[in-house]
Amino acid sequence: MRIYWSYIKVMVLLGWMISCNKKDGPPDPCLGVHYDIQVFKTEAVGAVNNGTITVTSPLGDTLSYQLNNGAFQSSPFFSNLGAGEYSLVVKNQKGCTDTLSVTLYNYGIKYAQVKQLISGIGGAGGYCGPCHLNGGISGGKNFDTDASIVASWDRIRARVVDGNPSFMPAAPNSPLSATDKQKITDWVNAGHRITD
Ligand code: HEC
Repeated sequence: MRIYWSYIKVMVLLGWMISCNKKDGPPDPCLGVHYDIQVFKTEAVGAVNNGTITVTSPLGDTLSYQLNNGAFQSSPFFSNLGAGEYSLVVKNQKGCTDTLSVTLYNYGIKYAQVKQLISGIGGAGGYCGPCHLNGGISGGKNFDTDASIVASWDRIRARVVDGNPSFMPAAPNSPLSATDKQKITDWVNAGHRITD
């Protein structure tokens, strides 16, 4: 009986402590607000502040966007950006925010042209997809990252410029134009780095 009463006392005390710790006031309006922020970016090319970041999701007229503690703006587009790490904040009309870190690289002018030929991001080119892009790994080569392109500079030249042992892009695609081949040769001769 004794033990039973102590047990009840403990439970009553616990119940009191829990109810007294309850927070009053309205629920947090930002509770559960989470944005899966997606961006399209173009790197800075030629050591000039010409990079861009465009928010592609979430979009909407109740949202605003901020880069590196600058002013919030309604446009999801930021331009004239140099290489570096950016903190991108999306805010809704209740003041709830989410943040994404975006890194812009500095591409050399020659590398930017080669990258464009290979992957065609946001424009012409893209001659190496789908076989070597978006996870494609024909012949053991995937060119989704800058590092993978730089590491394969000699094989890229051998296959695209010299056709050794046969031309890439692989048939039924045609080899690249003389102008496009020259872009690869110029990049290789300059040192085949991201910054060339
Ligand atoms: C239609 C598909 C296709 C396209 C487009 C294509 N490739 Fe390939 N690539 C292949 C296949 C298949 C192989 C493996 C057979 C071979 O080596 O010929 C290969 C192999 C390679 C290799 C590795 C073999 C070696 O010789 O070192 C490199 C490098 C390469 N491709 C570069 C490129 C480049 C650069 C482009 C774009 C300018 C390109 N390829 C476009 C299909 C393609």
